[in-house]
Parts: sequence; C-alpha cells; structure tokens
Amino acid sequence: MSVATQTKLRTEHVKPKIGSRILNKKEELLSGDLADEIREELEARGVLVFPGINFTEDEQIAFTRTLGEYASENPDGSVSKITLDVKENPSAAEYLKGSLYWHIDGTRNEVPILASLLSCKVPSPKGTGNTGFSNTYAAYEELSDADKAKYDDLKVVHAPWASLFYYEPEPPLAKIKGMQAIGEKVLPLVWEHKSGRKSLVLGCTAHHVIGVDHLESAQIIHGLREWATQPDFTYSHEWEPGDLVIWDNTGTMHRAEWYDPNCGRMMLRTKLEGEEPWTV
Ligand code: OGA
Ligand code: MN
Repeated sequence: MSVATQTKLRTEHVKPKIGSRILNKKEELLSGDLADEIREELEARGVLVFPGINFTEDEQIAFTRTLGEYASENPDGSVSKITLDVKENPSAAEYLKGSLYWHIDGTRNEVPILASLLSCKVPSPKGTGNTGFSNTYAAYEELSDADKAKYDDLKVVHAPWASLFYYEPEPPLAKIKGMQAIGEKVLPLVWEHKSGRKSLVLGCTAHHVIGVDHLESAQIIHGLREWATQPDFTYSHEWEPGDLVIWDNTGTMHRAEWYDPNCGRMMLRTKLEGEEPWTV
C-alpha cells in the first residue's frame, strides 16, 4: 500500500484586504506542484510574500517558469537588477525613478505583464526602500454603486512622459520630446477582466481622462489614487535579505518607497508574460 503525500499551500493573510504570506519550503515551491494554488492565491490576494526564501537567480527563474511564461527582460534570459544606483544600472536608473510613485508595470503593452517577482539581495536601511502595494480590485469593489457607474466606461490616456514630472518638475524640452516619442496609450479606467472582476487602472502614467473637463479629469485620477492607496487597501513590505514578493500586476499598483540611491539596495526581478489584453 502506498501513502500519497500531497503538498498543500500553507498561507496566512498579511492584511484583511491585501497580501498573503506563503510558508512552504523552497523545494515544495520549486517542484511546481503548488503552481495552480499559488496562481489562485495571487489573484485573490494581490500580493504574495515568501519570507526569507533565499532563491538563487536560477531558482528564481525556475520558480517563475512554474507559474506561467517567463517574460525575460534581458537577451540572455537573466534576472533584472533593480536599483537606483547608476554604477550598477546606468541605463535603467533614470527610468526607475518613476518607480517611486504608484504605478502598474508595462502600461505601454497591448497585454500587460501578469505578475512581477522581486527578490531582495541587499535591503536599504530600515525605514527606507519598502515596496508599497495597493489592491485595485478591492479599491474598485468598495466604491459606491453611483461611483462605479460614473467610472465604469471612462478611458484614460497613459504615457511615460506624464510620469517624468513626478521626479523632475522642470525637465528640458528635449527630454520631454524624447519621452513623448515613446508614445501614449488609451487604457480603461475600470478594467473588466475575463473572470468578471473589475479593477482600477491608475498610476503616475495616467495623464488625463478622455472627454472630461481637465479639472474633473485631475480630480478623478488623483482622487481615485488617494482612495486606492488608503491603508485598508495597501501593504508596505519591509525587506529582509532573501525575501521574494510577487504581485498581480493586473490587480494592483505598487511603488518603491524612497531610498538613498547610493545605499546599495539591490533587488532582482523576473516577470510573467501577460495573459489578458486591456479591455478598451
Ligand atoms: C519594479 C518596481 C519597486 C521596488 O521592479 O517594477 O517598481 O521597490 N520595483 O524596487
Ligand atoms: Mn514597477
């Protein structure tokens, strides 16, 4: 007689409306046996924390591949270094300044990435460099029926150049033109997913709401950002070396909290290919 031992996902909630900690061992996670349950938990909770899991770079890639299609950001398939330190990451450091403000990754893509996995190699000093997350499913679901009806069909122009002004208030014209050349994209303010659930699409790339007076447009974009980032809907992760966090990029916003670019903070990122286009 054989006794089948089935690995179960072991979780605990971080906050009532966002985040779960996953308590399984590294080997259990790498086996792939828990992948379906992890995907369900990710959609339900927005953010999954794997405290001190200490994946090597290859293990992070292997784990990413158990969950879906690995969307490599580098030609050699390696993980991406996330740091504001220009010595470590000269080309990306400029663009990563936008990551200090609430955003969704890949708003320029037809199919935004499904999820990002970020692991901590070197944390910043305590009190700096947390990563904040906002559950934009929960934020939508708790709007009044009148507000839902008001927002449901609105469209928003998103553009990288809109986020430039967050970290550089008086940029040279050439820089504005350079970022404008990257393009703009119209996205729904409320994304109705295949599942039928709806989430808010916001962030520092949101420039204006189409067909609405400019004052009203700013109130909608910034008022909803304030709503979605209130304590009930958010979680701020304080990093320890070896932690891994996954966020559902289709139902959350995130941001890095301020840290000294020279403090040595070093994070490693992998991404999962998107599976659902924006519904515009
Ligand atoms: C990202 C990001 C936040 C952080 O990797 O997409 O926004 O805390 N990172 O480094
Ligand atoms: Mn990001």
